[in-house]
Amino acid sequence: MGCRFLNRKFVMLTICFALAFIIHSCKTKNELIIEKSGAQLWGENCGRCHNTPDPTTYTDEKWETVAMHMKVRANISSKEIVLIKEFLKSANGD
Ligand code: HEC
Repeated sequence: MGCRFLNRKFVMLTICFALAFIIHSCKTKNELIIEKSGAQLWGENCGRCHNTPDPTTYTDEKWETVAMHMKVRANISSKEIVLIKEFLKSANGD
């Protein structure tokens, strides 16, 4: 009797751990999906108010200024504007 009870408790514990593990791994996956690339952020954010600007329009130096300007205008987070800037600079052929 006592032994069977212990067994059941052990099974319950195992299920709890398994569930905790599954929930935890789901959370990690969601975080990965949220992490977007600079190109993706550029496509989603920079075409909201005007046409999406072509990366080749400006030099690296000018993109710095424009990005600062548009960060304030568009209320883009510091982390995201850095990714967008990196994309614009990498794609302008400078
Ligand atoms: C909330 C609206 C809005 C969003 C979103 C936005 N812009 Fe703009 N953008 C403007 C406005 C308005 C202007 C006209 C200049 C001004 O008065 O600020 C402009 C002008 C520009 C110009 C012309 C040069 C300049 O600085 O005036 C460039 C290039 C530009 N935006 C790039 C971008 C990029 C890159 C993004 C994405 C990070 C972006 N914009 C997102 C509103 C926006």
